[in-house]
Amino acid sequence: MKKIFKITALAHPNLAFIKYWGKKDEGLNLPANTSISVNLSNLYTITTIEFSEIFSSDQIKINQEENQKEILRVVKYLDLIRKKAGINWKAKVVSQNNFPKAAGFASSASGFAALTLAATQALGLNLSEKELTILARLGSGSACRSIPDGFVEWKKGEESEDSYAYSIFPANYWKLSIFALFLKTSEKKVSSSEGHRLASTSPFFKTRIKKIDKKIILLKKFIKERNFVNFGNLIENEALEMHAIMFTSRPSLIYWDEKTIKLIKFVYELRMKKFPVYFTIDAGPNPYLICEEKNEKNLLKELKKINSIKNIIINYPNSGAKIIKKDLF
Ligand code: DP6
Repeated sequence: MKKIFKITALAHPNLAFIKYWGKKDEGLNLPANTSISVNLSNLYTITTIEFSEIFSSDQIKINQEENQKEILRVVKYLDLIRKKAGINWKAKVVSQNNFPKAAGFASSASGFAALTLAATQALGLNLSEKELTILARLGSGSACRSIPDGFVEWKKGEESEDSYAYSIFPANYWKLSIFALFLKTSEKKVSSSEGHRLASTSPFFKTRIKKIDKKIILLKKFIKERNFVNFGNLIENEALEMHAIMFTSRPSLIYWDEKTIKLIKFVYELRMKKFPVYFTIDAGPNPYLICEEKNEKNLLKELKKINSIKNIIINYPNSGAKIIKKDLF
């Protein structure tokens, strides 16, 4: 009898309120700073993995494609997990997002979080949540924040073992509505991994890092108090700060396009009309708008007026990665 170990996991991408931009150690994905995020309920990746001694090579399919660059990244990561488990069986992996990948919607975060959980369980590694986050981080830095529940802090740490993520508030702590706005869904030309390398070339990077721990303390205070206006102002300013680092890197990195700027101005106009809504943007042109759940319907009504928005997915803070019963193959 051949042994078969097959597991499926689901993970949500996370949206950073304080961004991870710049690494202290590229090989280990040790970040230059601590970051804070929340898991997004209606975006997800499902990954099924099967290890078997009869497979002669890894077979990896992500969103029905076989992209060589991505396959190499996953195989390298699987090698790490196989080494940890002391098992060298090859694997079949099928992974599916319910959203476009690499358009600034953190697909590597949910992808590596789901893969970490599924692969470690399939190989019988019984890891704690902290250990899972450390391992996921080695796949993609931000993936560590998709493992724990709700609002999550990723401590930068000094070395691999103390750079991990943990929940700071459960998903139901604050009823926020987080609108993922799809303006452009084509894959970005510069990956965030490449972008991280440029961060320290910005003359403003050192200043950012010097001030960021204070920002972390403030953000946690505003979430704790559920102070939406202070929270919104802080996260919006933080997103602009990260993009300012990108703009002023050498070479510069501009993920926005005209539609992004239009959306930013639209948010400013709404606030002039006393509508409490704020934006944040990751490494892509697509913004996220955030309001309190009580204002969700009105915000949706306002956004219906803008025809550059191709699709809107409304999210709520959500739990972390989990095992599910529905296999993809
Ligand atoms: C802009 O986690 O994708 O989304 O560690 O190289 O895989 P790697 O980078 P990645 O970077 C995410 C950058 C960001 C900000 C954030 O999520 O904090």
